[in-house]
Amino acid sequence: MNATAIAHPNIALVKYWGKRDAALNLPATGSYSLTLAPIRTRTTVSWGQAEDRLVLNGAEAVGRPLTRIQRFLDLLRADHPSLGHAHVESDNDFPTAAGLASSSSGFAALALAATSAAGLSLSPAALSVLARQGSGSAARSLSGGFVEMQPGASPDGRDAFAVQRYAETHWDLRVLFALTTEGEKSIPSTVGMDQTVATSPYFQAWCDGVPAALRDVDAAVGAQDFERLASLAEASALQMHASAIAAVPGVLYWNGVTVELIHAVRELRAQGLPVFFTIDAGPHVKVFVEGHAAAAASAALREIPGVRGVFEARPGGDARIITDEPR
Ligand code: DP6
Repeated sequence: MNATAIAHPNIALVKYWGKRDAALNLPATGSYSLTLAPIRTRTTVSWGQAEDRLVLNGAEAVGRPLTRIQRFLDLLRADHPSLGHAHVESDNDFPTAAGLASSSSGFAALALAATSAAGLSLSPAALSVLARQGSGSAARSLSGGFVEMQPGASPDGRDAFAVQRYAETHWDLRVLFALTTEGEKSIPSTVGMDQTVATSPYFQAWCDGVPAALRDVDAAVGAQDFERLASLAEASALQMHASAIAAVPGVLYWNGVTVELIHAVRELRAQGLPVFFTIDAGPHVKVFVEGHAAAAASAALREIPGVRGVFEARPGGDARIITDEPR
């Protein structure tokens, strides 16, 4: 009745932004990401408790984070009522809820630990479908390497799951997280994307461009064509943010340093450094770089005024159950 899982966060190269069914958390489009190590979420679930509890990064959680976990546990309890309540203990070795993809690794680790603790053995697709119902990006964090989320066509979401396209050993890309502020993000991604779907005149245009972006990004990754990937991934990030900024009221995640970083990364690339940027539901900038140039890129980013820190990640592997690491 007790299991511990580790999952790595992922960063999208083709963004997921908008749902076609909020209740089932079905994405409006596919998406494409790279899973990253060594950063990770570690989650322990024990069923058969007197009440649901969530301890997040060592502190008892209440309110929205707890409710979100309880709704997720309810998905398993619906089919297996004898499971009862659960204690969930989860920690991230990187900032939580700061637009650094903690919900991707969080719900992937929770899906794996909760099913394993319940004695259930799900197929990779079923596990991804389950994780997706916790958080859309989590469907991609069960697999390592380069991962494609399929939007699916079924109204019940059974075909909306992620599959690995290339293993983490395929290409030595690194991601430099350039932190532009401290603290949690202002608008949760769920809220920001719902506002975009409901009010942005550019939302449909954003969706229309995604299928071609997915095909092109997959081909660029397959061919290890960095220049092509840079152009496609920056376009996906900017188009996602353009659709969000056009919502009413506008969903704007950037601060001034975010914009300085966009210019700086493009300038560095023009000077010959293999770098490109992407930005998620927060003000930080993630800079992809080829492994051989990571140290030079990291040093250059640290020089930019307003950058509060830079940390480096590399391609990471599948989510997994661990047995040998005591909490
Ligand atoms: C900008 O997966 O956090 O990071 O399904 O509502 O939990 P919910 O959203 P979430 O959204 C991620 C948005 C993004 C882009 C991406 O990771 O594809």
